[in-house]
Amino acid sequence: MGLIEVKNLRKYFTSGLFRKSCVKAVDGVSFEVEEGETFALVGESGCGKSTVGRCILRLIEPTAGEVYFRGINISGSNGNLRGLRKKMQMIFQDADGTLNPRMRVFDLITEPSRVHRLVNGREKAAELMEMVNLTPDLLGRYPHELSGGQRHRIGIARAMSLNPEFIVADELAASLDLSVQAQMLDLMKRLQAEFAIGYLFISHNLNVVKLMADRVAVMYLGKFVEVGDTRRIFSASAHPYTQALLSTVLNPNPSARRKRIVLEGEIPSPLNPPSGCRFHPRCPEAKAICSEIEADLREIEDRHLVSCHFA
Ligand SMILES: Nc1ncnc2c1ncn2[C@@H]1O[C@H](COP(=O)(O)OP(=O)(O)OP(=O)(O)O)[C@@H](O)[C@H]1O
Ligand SMILES: [Mg+2]
Repeated sequence: MGLIEVKNLRKYFTSGLFRKSCVKAVDGVSFEVEEGETFALVGESGCGKSTVGRCILRLIEPTAGEVYFRGINISGSNGNLRGLRKKMQMIFQDADGTLNPRMRVFDLITEPSRVHRLVNGREKAAELMEMVNLTPDLLGRYPHELSGGQRHRIGIARAMSLNPEFIVADELAASLDLSVQAQMLDLMKRLQAEFAIGYLFISHNLNVVKLMADRVAVMYLGKFVEVGDTRRIFSASAHPYTQALLSTVLNPNPSARRKRIVLEGEIPSPLNPPSGCRFHPRCPEAKAICSEIEADLREIEDRHLVSCHFA
């Protein structure tokens, strides 16, 4: 039994009063995240990565599909939900936007667990600061008196204050300097090793994903086109879209540099996705069948799933 199990998740955004339009932001994705595992979502902007994360945490209501936490269906209205939701936290890209500027660090990190007025609030605060490598003298400061990296650590401490077992990290520290970002990734790895937290790790940066993830799912227009162990995806990807994405990553070793595959054309609108395989208009290997019949996501080898007629 996985820590998190997502089954056939869909999120359609509808708008327009008379001529209803429907964006199929997430269109039937399924996956599991194990305890202590990092499962990454990659894909171009707008493919639905954040929507998957937000649906799992019920920040938005999914259109269809189920989410299980340790085997418990948490998609419907479930009495246990309040207790369980604390076990699932999100770390936001923009820590600044989520920290109340009028609260001191002490209150910011003890507020989620509501222990700040209790005697053990001090103990808890000290413990959390140590957990994210900040010195206790910062407890009296306001967010604007901290550096970007420190604010990020406070955001992580807030999430950690509820002893989460699953964390969605959406573009973690992507707005910070590379060196600060690297520290944040180290911190996330350390916390994961210590507490066996499962991560859903959303990122544009394939180099970061390679470093962090155990498994990777590649998304295109609301669907998974390839899922597999990180090493497999980076060394033997089987979907032309994955291959094109990877070819844009700089390889430090020039002799091993892959031929760069340029994706032709714009990303099609999710309002009106192409027939057949959604990737076919941009695919360098598309054949007649691709515009007519959608390929199912199928296992081509152990734990490696691909949706391509020719994989
Ligand atoms: N609240 C909303 N109302 C209408 N459409 C939305 C809403 N939120 C997201 N969408 C649409 O759903 C699709 C997926 O968006 P999402 O934010 O999940 O993509 P993403 O992969 O996280 O992109 P990025 O890499 O830019 O963060 C996009 O077409 C987006 O415009
Ligand atoms: Mg996003």
